[in-house]
Amino acid sequence: MNEPALAAITNAVGTNVGPAEIASAIGRLISDGTIPSGNRLPTVRALARNLNVSPSVVADAWRRLDHAGLLTTEGRRGSFVRSRRQPEDPGRFWQVPVNPHTYRLDLSTGTPDPALLPPLGPALAALRDQPPVSSYLDQPTLPALSEVLRQRWPFEPEALTVVDGALDALDRIIAETVNYGDRVLVEDPGFPPTIDMLELAGAELIPVPVIKGGLDPEALARGLTAYPSLLVFQPRAHNPTGWSHDAERIDQLAGLLEGSDLLVIEDDHSGEVSGAALHSLGSRLPDRVIHIRSFSKAYGPDLRLAAVGGAGPVIEAMVHRRQLGPAWSSRLLQGVLLELLTDPGTADTVALAAESYAGRRSSVIKSLVERGVSVPGTSGFNLWLEVGDETNALIALSAQGIGAAPGSPFMVGPGSTPHLRLTLATVAEGSDDLAEALADAASIPPGRRVGV
Ligand SMILES: Cc1ncc(COP(=O)(O)O)c(C=O)c1O
Repeated sequence: MNEPALAAITNAVGTNVGPAEIASAIGRLISDGTIPSGNRLPTVRALARNLNVSPSVVADAWRRLDHAGLLTTEGRRGSFVRSRRQPEDPGRFWQVPVNPHTYRLDLSTGTPDPALLPPLGPALAALRDQPPVSSYLDQPTLPALSEVLRQRWPFEPEALTVVDGALDALDRIIAETVNYGDRVLVEDPGFPPTIDMLELAGAELIPVPVIKGGLDPEALARGLTAYPSLLVFQPRAHNPTGWSHDAERIDQLAGLLEGSDLLVIEDDHSGEVSGAALHSLGSRLPDRVIHIRSFSKAYGPDLRLAAVGGAGPVIEAMVHRRQLGPAWSSRLLQGVLLELLTDPGTADTVALAAESYAGRRSSVIKSLVERGVSVPGTSGFNLWLEVGDETNALIALSAQGIGAAPGSPFMVGPGSTPHLRLTLATVAEGSDDLAEALADAASIPPGRRVGV
């Protein structure tokens, strides 16, 4: 029996109260640390006796706390206060970037080559004579942009809107759909900020390995038996592995998901510069897929725009919630995006960029293969390099002025082998020296001390 918790709850609640008051009082005691996470709560019977209420009232309070994700029940051992990640924990994301401007070649960034982005001048000039939009109550998305996006969407979206990038979309959709304790299927390895957001929302993560060609269907089938409420994945140019799902794999995954009612978030973060065709689960499950298309990689991260389209109720709830805050993404920038999307010259620039990224990636891969190093993936501008030891490999590269992202923040489940994530967006073709440095760094075993 946890006497201090029993006394604290009895003191805080008073007598002859209902389940809502009991649950709220315990919630406050958990928040202020009086009952720390991991602590066992008193038994239903003991608390009911102290509060002078029937055991069913306390049991009802327990159900409410469980629903809010504040406690877990472990059968006959009793109920415990759940531990949750503290908001001040910096999380995985901040382990990824290295100090900017420290390296002669920084491959840690995950960002596009500024030289391959389309110029914004003509698009801005085309908007020069447009009257500024000043109303808070206009549609959040420019109707003409909405029309163009709908025409290019991989399926008929029930609703569509524009937000401030794929990360903003993920943040808002996760806030809308994930309750504390919900089980969420995630890629392993996955994108660190997405995993951070899910962990902060209190989700229980179920890792689904990314294998050749994308998500592992067998692991997905196993994960579905835990009744998850959400799957978050990248349909193509997977960051970090570079895999893209082909039509067959998407069909296979859709077949498995048809037997469930879970929601799917598709993060198409590289869009037209992915270097692979888009196949979306939305073509089979349009009412359960929320597809995100970022324009950062193809048109510029500072446009800060992404479109979100698919399952109507979730997107409408997100739009309504956003209406209470910033409400819309700058219509000026939406106008720029519309110009870029409809200008044939820009389409050529973007196609050329996609080709350059593919060429740069395959050039490094070819040089690595010549040195006996194989890497996964067929698309995007990231490389997932298996190494003998993460720290040793980072130090060895750093000594040569090369920055790389550690692989561990991308990993979710146990038992992963060490990796580095390398962004090749700016690497010139034929960089044999780089391949040599990568191959050498990858071959250093654990335990060897590497001097800088
Ligand atoms: C998987 C993934 N999602 C989202 C993003 C960020 O997209 P945005 O710039 O649109 O927020 C990235 C950027 O690298 C990414 O790799």
